[in-house]
Amino acid sequence: MAIHCRTEITNSILSICVALIFFSSASLSEATPVGYGYTISAVTDYPLTNSLTANLNLIKPSSVYGPDIPHLSLSASFESKDRLRVRITDSKNQRWEIPQEVISRGSSSQYYPLRSLNTNQGSPQTQHSLSLTHPNSDLVFTLHNTIPFGFTVSRKSSNDVLFNAAPDPSNPQTFLVFKDQYLQLSSSLPPRRASIYGFGEHTKSSFKLQPNQTLTLWNADIPSAKLDLNLYGSHPFYLDVRSPSSDGRVKAGTTHGVLLLNSNGMDIVYGGDRITYKVIGGVFDLYFFAGSSPELVLEQYTEFIGRPAPMPYWSFGFHQCRYGYKNVTDLQGVVANYEKAHIPLEVMWTDIDYMDAFKDFTFDPINFPLDKMRSFVDTLHKNGQKYVLIVDPGINVNDTYATYVRGLKADVYIKRNGVNYLGKVWPGPVYYPDFLNPRSQDFWGGEIKLFRDLLPIDGIWLDMNELSNFITSPPIPSCNLDNPPYKINNVGDLRSINDRTVPASSLHFGNVTEYNAHNLYGLLESKVTNKALKDITGKRPFILSRSTFVSSGKFAAHWTGDNAATWNDLAYSIPAILNSGIFGIPMVGADICGFGGNTTEELCRRWIQLGAFYPFARDHSEINSIRQELYIWDSVAASARKVLGLRYRLLPYFYTLMYEAHTKGTPIARPLFFSFPEDVTTYDINSQFLLGKGVLVSPVLQSGATTVVAYFPKGSWFDLFNVSNSVNSKSGKYVTLAAPSDHINVHVGEGNILALQGEAMTTDVARRTAFELVVVISSSRSSYGQEYLDDGEAVDIAGLKDQWTLVSFYGALHNNSIFVTSKVTNGRFALDQRWIIDKVTFLGIPKHKRFSRMHLAGNELNIVNGTSSTSKAVVKSQFDSSSQFVNVQVSKLSLLIGVEFKLEIEIK
Ligand code: NOJ
Repeated sequence: MAIHCRTEITNSILSICVALIFFSSASLSEATPVGYGYTISAVTDYPLTNSLTANLNLIKPSSVYGPDIPHLSLSASFESKDRLRVRITDSKNQRWEIPQEVISRGSSSQYYPLRSLNTNQGSPQTQHSLSLTHPNSDLVFTLHNTIPFGFTVSRKSSNDVLFNAAPDPSNPQTFLVFKDQYLQLSSSLPPRRASIYGFGEHTKSSFKLQPNQTLTLWNADIPSAKLDLNLYGSHPFYLDVRSPSSDGRVKAGTTHGVLLLNSNGMDIVYGGDRITYKVIGGVFDLYFFAGSSPELVLEQYTEFIGRPAPMPYWSFGFHQCRYGYKNVTDLQGVVANYEKAHIPLEVMWTDIDYMDAFKDFTFDPINFPLDKMRSFVDTLHKNGQKYVLIVDPGINVNDTYATYVRGLKADVYIKRNGVNYLGKVWPGPVYYPDFLNPRSQDFWGGEIKLFRDLLPIDGIWLDMNELSNFITSPPIPSCNLDNPPYKINNVGDLRSINDRTVPASSLHFGNVTEYNAHNLYGLLESKVTNKALKDITGKRPFILSRSTFVSSGKFAAHWTGDNAATWNDLAYSIPAILNSGIFGIPMVGADICGFGGNTTEELCRRWIQLGAFYPFARDHSEINSIRQELYIWDSVAASARKVLGLRYRLLPYFYTLMYEAHTKGTPIARPLFFSFPEDVTTYDINSQFLLGKGVLVSPVLQSGATTVVAYFPKGSWFDLFNVSNSVNSKSGKYVTLAAPSDHINVHVGEGNILALQGEAMTTDVARRTAFELVVVISSSRSSYGQEYLDDGEAVDIAGLKDQWTLVSFYGALHNNSIFVTSKVTNGRFALDQRWIIDKVTFLGIPKHKRFSRMHLAGNELNIVNGTSSTSKAVVKSQFDSSSQFVNVQVSKLSLLIGVEFKLEIEIK
């Protein structure tokens, strides 16, 4: 807060001013500006590469948070028509930036040619502002030759200013500041027109960011049950969804994205009308993604950071875990009880309990002896089930422990003061592998290989990789890394950045400090583990990581960490999974029924109803809490059978959404505004989400509730548990729906075609059942759906060997007929698998006058190509319960999915 007291004011007002300054928590340092900004001294423009550079000179030094860097270079460049990069750094000295090997991107050196071109073009001495455009881009970068200087990024098509770093001369908080350990940049937002999402990882009660908060990014082992604190991952990325402008030039839902590619600790202050970055190192490396729809921003963002990893088919089944399973017999009991209760269990997990004294890659010889573990895993595999184990990064310092000794020999541990840094985690004293060290790949991969040779596990769970440490080592006296001048709001109370982690003054390979690389650890561990699993198994890896950074989605899935078994935590899980999706990590879920504390029957029942529709669905609990497997309570078991039944029918849909995420970056679970950007009501929705474009999940989030108030964007929607229940929303409306204790509302919207398969106890059996198409007729457009098919575990999606099939479905009501037709790519694979469609359901045929007395029995069923058994097909029709629609079901078909077909029903 800056407080200005003018000299002519009265004494009493003056004393109030002084008191305010004195008591303000932001206090004295903010009364003295942290910096005074920079001016532009020379601009060089490179028309051939659509870029420019400018020299920036400090206006006046300020000693707050250390000396200013006097000369900076700014470069702006169009890396593609949809991506603009703006980079500001010290013009004389190289500074820390995320290495290209970690996140590859265009080399920055291209902006610093040996010889300047056209130095005078657009000279700031003669021009007030200078713009950089690209013939095919909607983005415009403008340098403002003001004092201090500023820049803006705007949209060519509407003149909307997207990022406004033109400083307000009366507010030094808005000036660019660039010191060794304090960087500040601020952008103002158009009042009331910008809805901001992102900047994680934090637990939030609302998905859309609410004004007046500081979002701290510093990876930490803090339970996600705590609201608004920095958590396990760091994602300095946001989406800005615009509401319409008064001049009508900006359409509702016009969206862009902004990434600050910087791995240092930071506070991001969101004031509602302004976003201010306060970063403790690195450079400003900003990327603007033009959109202009939310989906396109995600496509552009993940094109840059890397598309999400493909996930194995089985990983979409249901997972059971617990911290505190006692022994192999306990595990066997859980698996048997799931079977007995007839609840599908795809993957069994084991936490650190299986280890010998919590040492990675070992087995407790008494409770989890290797021979028993082997036969347990063999049985799981025979039943089509999978097994995942936890691995923590800390390696126990113990001369009798072979993994430790090999790590020591390979010299791969993080160092401090010239020796391996000694931390403490579950096994006691530990060293931490340095995943920036190229030798860590052989070391870590080697350990995984030896371990997998003992026990053929199907996936790896990477926990504690923020890095978590049970001790806080004292700072090195007067070391600015351990004790930087600006304190980010770590743990919500300005706690030291060394708090319960590896100290910032520790060193990685190449003398990279932990100060700079801290936030990258989970990403690097996921990357090394992913490569190791690929090399060892030749299959698509499944890795679940707690800590993440920009581009982690390329290597791992994520869960939201240590939530608590409370109704609030149930609700917070929705913003959390939506955020992970926009960070490019679409395979995500929260611990179903709650991790910490005792769950209740009602909460667990409502949680499995919601969790069954998380992309990643795992029940997990803490050692001191009561058991919460889904069979424990009859009512939870009954509900689990029902909702997991629908999840398993939707597996082909989830899997195709994974394919879409991997090829285009669009999340699996999406906010409503992804499909309805023009509907501003959707911007504030926190308690519902979409799977893909058109499956709307509206859970109960309150104890005792038996109804739910759900928002339905424009269109007709059909209950997937009972398709004859519909909601018709003419222009978007809230509807109170029945939600009895065993029920969650899941609707499919008009214009979508879903390919479903049958329910089963494992994904493998479900994958071999016949398909059913659900074609939801739209009044305004033709309906569309897609189906991606492969063996579920090949390393590459849609790989070279053509061991996959992609089918697109189109459907519509046209004149007096309804039809659905398919387009097939690589049909051979689907034909070899003998996949058929045995049922097609058309929903939402309007009860138009013409049809009001229609009689479908004996209607003509034209099927072109694909099947020879049309004569057996049975057609049934039914009025929807609202009596607004007619639904038509065609069964006993056997259309080969690998062959293109058209199914048409004339309605006379
Ligand atoms: C912390 C993880 O978040 C939790 O899921 C796990 O159960 C414990 N560590 C024990 O490994």
